[in-house]
Amino acid sequence: MSKILVTGGLGFIGSHTVVELQNEGYDVVIIDDLSNSTIDVLDKITSITGIKPDYFNIDLKVKSSVQDFFKNNKIDGIIHFAASKAVGESVQKPLEYYENNIGSLVYLLQEMKATNVNNFIFSSSCTVYGQADELPITEDAPIKPAESPYGNTKQIGEEIIKDSTKVSDIKAIALRYFNPVGAHPSTKIGELPIGVPQNLIPFVTQTAARIREQLSVFGSDYETPDGTAVRDYIHVVDLAKAHIVALQRLLKNKNKSNFEVFNIGTGKGNSVLEVIKAFEKVTGKKLNYKLVDRRPGDITAAYADTTLATKELGWKPELTLEDALLSAWKWQETL
Ligand code: UD1
Repeated sequence: MSKILVTGGLGFIGSHTVVELQNEGYDVVIIDDLSNSTIDVLDKITSITGIKPDYFNIDLKVKSSVQDFFKNNKIDGIIHFAASKAVGESVQKPLEYYENNIGSLVYLLQEMKATNVNNFIFSSSCTVYGQADELPITEDAPIKPAESPYGNTKQIGEEIIKDSTKVSDIKAIALRYFNPVGAHPSTKIGELPIGVPQNLIPFVTQTAARIREQLSVFGSDYETPDGTAVRDYIHVVDLAKAHIVALQRLLKNKNKSNFEVFNIGTGKGNSVLEVIKAFEKVTGKKLNYKLVDRRPGDITAAYADTTLATKELGWKPELTLEDALLSAWKWQETL
């Protein structure tokens, strides 16, 4: 069976993807520097699948460490999650974001080329579209100037990969995620926000758990049916499965070009108020929330056209927003 390197494999999306890879019989090796994850996730993954993945605590910003890893490990493909992802923090610390997200990507690609590892899946984001002119958003929608250094690292990252595929045997797929939410049905792994959550769903579950007093709904004067902003919330288990089919496409040489891009979302947009109502309905918990000003940098609405992923990858989401919210709540209750 193929051996797959998952960088950032102890993080939120990474850990769910490791579980799905193991369920499909892949041999998994994780690199994670624990900068935004904890080592106990390794045991949690093991308890879900019954198989302990290989694990290395390697800082991918250290080129010699990346070289050593590739010298000592025979890898068939890479799913690259390891990156910093806090939008606000990236504005404060742009150079750290460029060093971490771009430096590590360059070193990985260099070692892939040097050691003939040719299959690469990249964590990209719908943030590359900014506020798209047309909804739902297709992969052909123009890339808008990034709102933050974080968003810029995703745009630049895609370009670096695309350029690399032109001068090597590397084949790559960038998956542009919409808003990943939810947790594993086992309730053993989920999203672990450090400090005050910036994203909606962790803030919702922490408010319901009375860790936060009140949820602020950022903006109620958007041009949307109820005035609150609209996003495409994709269950992390469905998202994880998209990585497996994308990887299989490369391993079987089914790709149509050496750099491909797919949107991964549900195709449905939900407003913040709809999310709140759905959460209250599935959990039976009342949420204390108030409408406040817009959050700077936020867009009005984004949801995916997932036609291409369905056609080319044979992938479609199976879980609903309600499934995601209930699993996020059950996960919260374990914390
Ligand atoms: C952001 C990033 C995205 C990144 C994702 C996960 C942008 C444009 N998008 O998505 O690239 O991949 O985080 O890290 O930077 N909201 C509230 N109250 C809250 C929190 C959020 O009302 O306490 C609202 C937001 O205004 C937004 C929606 O909920 O309308 C979703 O917010 P969030 O979960 O932070 O995700 P995005 O901003 O869409």
